[in-house]
Amino acid sequence: MELIFEKSRPGRRAGRPPRPALAVPEVPDELRRTRPPRLPEVPENEIVRHFTALADRNFGIDTGFYPLGSCTMKHNPRVNERAAMIPGFRDLHPLQEDEAAQGALELTWALERMLAEIAGLPAVTTQPAAGSQGELTGLMLMRAYFADRGEGETRDTIITADTAHGTNPASVTMAGYRLEKVATTDRGNLDLDDLRAKVSERTAGLMLTNPSTLGLFDEGIEQVAEIFHSRGALLYYDGANLNAVVGISRPGDMGFDIVHYNLHKTFSQPHGGGGPGAGPVAARDFLEPFLPSPAVVREGEAFRLDHDRPKSIGRVRGYAGPFGVFVRSYAFMRAYGPALREMSEMAVLNANYVLAGLRDAYELPYDRHCMHEFVLSARRLKREHGVTALDVAKRLMDSGIHPPTIYFPLVVPEALMIEPTETETKERLDGFVAAMLEIAREAAADPAILHGAPHTRPVRRLDEVRAAKEPVVRYDPDRVDVAVSPAS
Ligand SMILES: Cc1ncc(COP(=O)(O)O)c(C=O)c1O
Repeated sequence: MELIFEKSRPGRRAGRPPRPALAVPEVPDELRRTRPPRLPEVPENEIVRHFTALADRNFGIDTGFYPLGSCTMKHNPRVNERAAMIPGFRDLHPLQEDEAAQGALELTWALERMLAEIAGLPAVTTQPAAGSQGELTGLMLMRAYFADRGEGETRDTIITADTAHGTNPASVTMAGYRLEKVATTDRGNLDLDDLRAKVSERTAGLMLTNPSTLGLFDEGIEQVAEIFHSRGALLYYDGANLNAVVGISRPGDMGFDIVHYNLHKTFSQPHGGGGPGAGPVAARDFLEPFLPSPAVVREGEAFRLDHDRPKSIGRVRGYAGPFGVFVRSYAFMRAYGPALREMSEMAVLNANYVLAGLRDAYELPYDRHCMHEFVLSARRLKREHGVTALDVAKRLMDSGIHPPTIYFPLVVPEALMIEPTETETKERLDGFVAAMLEIAREAAADPAILHGAPHTRPVRRLDEVRAAKEPVVRYDPDRVDVAVSPAS
């Protein structure tokens, strides 16, 4: 496909604005252009076609099935967009005084109350901008809490699972803690003996997602909580997998003291490519004084931002949080109402349905019912036919399906992590299972097809190392002969 610069021809214009007879301001010689800017000169219909063609090449949840494990790529009801575009919300200035922002403050407050109910923890901040920032915020809360108790110097370690998402160890390190990993058993639970040996008076806490990134609910979670609490340590719940348990089990009841939610996963948001997102954090009441400032508070029928919080860890984000995301998630939850639990039930049902269709053709390293996602291994295909998880993922693209997450979690070799979400129809799930089974057949019959895939996408198999090490993300006009109007 040609670049828009290559479509440029001198003098072509999308539109010609009127030229009023205004005096031309004096511009000093040294600031004057010597040649016109290198802008593409293209008529409007060609511009529209160009960008429409580019958009058509994009793959998103609106174009096809997107079972990207751990990312919860669910449908975003369009009515939420309408809610976010209500002028009173859309046009609100981030520094609007509280009196003139009552609706926005009330919505934020009501969202916090719903999130508190879902987590089973009373105190909520909506400031963090993503799950990963929620993790950092949660660890800062732990640090502030232990410092307040005079244990700030002694508690220096956070424990994470060996299945943890990469953001967990990154947040632990950013928060200045030492990282220790705990092993996973053959059933996919935390190894309690390993844990008992590692938790001590130096432990500040645990960071864990439950269900884990294996898509398995930890059967020993109550003992896990006991081990940490008996040593005075805290439990942090990485809520990226909350889509499996909403309305069914609550992190607070499992024993967790701090939780983050990925609003952009659980409560629908167009996400990916770095945003937009939101990672609110909930905590037990004894941690409430440390939550970020300002906090949204209700006084009678009025709402305001409370800045008078002497023990707070301070701001973790500019302004009052990613407000458009709050509106969408609020609308999403209100649309479900008390039936929100059905969202998670359907997510778990769909995942188990797909798992049942694939378990014989691929290896299932942890043979249990899954929660909202599951992890298969392409290890057998690799051993018998030289076909890897990467080959399977690339070949799926030829069926118009986004690949699942691969090579994660790290404890599963040749991992394929599949999360169908609750919004997909049975026909769509059947189509995915059929495509995966066909790939397993191809692996035996003609592995070369898989090594060369994708065959039908605009971009073929990339040299991924080179793409990561030497990304070409900038247009270099000197590499293309651009035709532009002469200086006038
Ligand atoms: C298990 C888990 N934890 C944490 C995160 C980080 O969340 P975010 O992308 O919102 O920063 C993710 C993101 O994919 C995740 O899957």
